[in-house]
Amino acid sequence: MTQVKRHLVTCALPYANGPLHIGHIAGCFLPSDIYVRHLKSKGEEVLFVCGTDEHGVPITLKAKKEGVSPQEIVNRNYEVIKDSLTKWGIHFDNFSRTSRPIHHQTSQDFFTVLYDKGVFLEEVTEQFYDKEANQFLADRYIIGECPSCGFDSAYGDQCENCGRTLSPSELINPKSSLTGNQPIKKATKNWFLPLDKLQTEFLNDWVATKKDVWKSHVYGQCNSWLTDGLQPRAMTRDLDWGVPVPLKEGKGKVLYVWFDAPIGYISATKEIETDWKKWWQDDSTELVHFLGKDNIVFHTIIFPSMLHAHGDFNLPTYVPANEFLNLEGDKLSTSRNHAVWLHEYLEDFPGKSDELRYVLTAIMPETKDSDFSWKDFQARVNNELVAILGNWVNRVMVLTHKYCDGIVPPNSDHVDYNQLEEAEALVRQVDESILKFKFRDGQNHLMNIARLGNKYFQDAAPWHAIKEDDGQQRVEQILNVSLRLVQKFAAAAEAFLPGTSAKIKDMLQTGGELMAGKPVTKPVLLFDKIEDEAIEAQLDKLAKQASDNKQQPDLEPIKDTITFDDFVKLDLRIGTIKEASKVKKADKLLQLSVDIGLETRTILSGIAEHFAPEELVGKQAVVVCNLAPRKMRGVESNGMLLMAENTEGKLVFVQPETEFPEGSIVR
Ligand code: 2FM
Ligand code: ZN
Repeated sequence: MTQVKRHLVTCALPYANGPLHIGHIAGCFLPSDIYVRHLKSKGEEVLFVCGTDEHGVPITLKAKKEGVSPQEIVNRNYEVIKDSLTKWGIHFDNFSRTSRPIHHQTSQDFFTVLYDKGVFLEEVTEQFYDKEANQFLADRYIIGECPSCGFDSAYGDQCENCGRTLSPSELINPKSSLTGNQPIKKATKNWFLPLDKLQTEFLNDWVATKKDVWKSHVYGQCNSWLTDGLQPRAMTRDLDWGVPVPLKEGKGKVLYVWFDAPIGYISATKEIETDWKKWWQDDSTELVHFLGKDNIVFHTIIFPSMLHAHGDFNLPTYVPANEFLNLEGDKLSTSRNHAVWLHEYLEDFPGKSDELRYVLTAIMPETKDSDFSWKDFQARVNNELVAILGNWVNRVMVLTHKYCDGIVPPNSDHVDYNQLEEAEALVRQVDESILKFKFRDGQNHLMNIARLGNKYFQDAAPWHAIKEDDGQQRVEQILNVSLRLVQKFAAAAEAFLPGTSAKIKDMLQTGGELMAGKPVTKPVLLFDKIEDEAIEAQLDKLAKQASDNKQQPDLEPIKDTITFDDFVKLDLRIGTIKEASKVKKADKLLQLSVDIGLETRTILSGIAEHFAPEELVGKQAVVVCNLAPRKMRGVESNGMLLMAENTEGKLVFVQPETEFPEGSIVR
């Protein structure tokens, strides 16, 4: 066993497509920060790196939607993210960006090493291509009908209606979201990481060594990927936003975002450390990745495979991923604006960084999903931080001034010393818990020091003791022990509550052991009660965010212009539904007989979740009559009914204002 000399700690790079919310914090930023602060306070050699992940399709989609360049989007968000982290007191040794030249260079060099070693499979596959936009289409850029549920705006990678994971070729009637055109298939070469081969060659054995080392949900998820069997995965994409593929044949292609993002940890190290190799290639350095559960496969399978294939790098020792945090019982969502944004919290609760740290640690989703609610936030701050910790420290300080003129009374042998031993034992438990990534337990042990001190103070009751014979001496003993408990608390609190720890150390005027005979400062209040109004305001804000979201829906951008000739190609007519029935084994489809004047058509429509068959008979609708027939579930559909859909997915018929003869032309 090599001895651990140093620790390289990474926090998953947040996408630069929006600000940070409490889910990012509880999932990744807070646990990594606690871990790093703790190691640093023990004098360990640690490097803590992060940065923004500035590539990937979601950023290009956002840019397109806002009509700006992807660079503009990431520049804006990098600043917001970095600023909120600084204000909140998370300090990285380097907080970099994947759009920096050093990162492009590092990723390209890494790719080249794998390429030269013959690691990649080169494969020519048929990918969707938009002739008019003159580009290949990422899965997200293809929209079509879901083969499972009939939803007509499923993405090429997933149907947001039924949740099924898709590949673009499974979509019925796929369309390019750039032009609305039907994409063609075009052959293109890409470079694949042979994960199947790497699985048998190395991953199975390596992952097995982590069985009792990693959290069970991390190991479990990783193991289930392996049990299913890995497939080669493309490490390059036909896209124009990202790190260019460093090959002649790679023109117009970029590295897959999940290839370059984890290399961001390496570039962030290189950027600030000339001797960067000692952090990555010396086996006395331990590599620890903090992340959320949606990133597990990338950090336990794909990145380790890349590192292994490269050959010069250490593999991660720990991958202490967290699960998800919900908000008021509902999934956090950037697009629905159901979130508590870090920068807004800091504005609404100035100076209350430790309060949020405390609550998010107490409910950290370490082994299962958990929920943040504002009422719980208020209760934990008021009942624990204010009532136990703040109150205890304050009373000890006030009585030190009252009975000892603000001077630390002398140490003396006394039975109460077992309180100090108990506190020492708790300090050791704090340490052990943090090193096992059990931050909730660790903070609980820490608070037990305050509970212990509080109870001791209450039981010893210096305000009564002072009235007895040799009362002054007894009170000095009580205050000496109490001040030393406070000091132990402050030292152990550094990782969890850094601001509070510093305030207490300031009051005690010591960074280390407490010195008898030294003055302490006047007490400052550590925490204020959170009033009901502040909580109501946050709840109102969430409600408003939800309703604004409804009023300003995520409307799709207007499609590209078409000519009048394009328009008149459509044969639109009024029809009346004569019969409607469910389609077997298709939850979302209804089979309709529609009278369009000239004839009665069979039309399949993906509206079964919105309308019962019986309510449709007799309804009129605008029918697209010259749509090419399409077979679904063995039935041929001849046409389409026009519907309007709002952003919540509710459907209404587009109908004539009053009943109108079947077959009437709509134009
Ligand atoms: O899921 C995410 O937010 C990704 N941007 C995480 C990247 S972590 C890494 F590998 F850099
Ligand atoms: Zn679906």
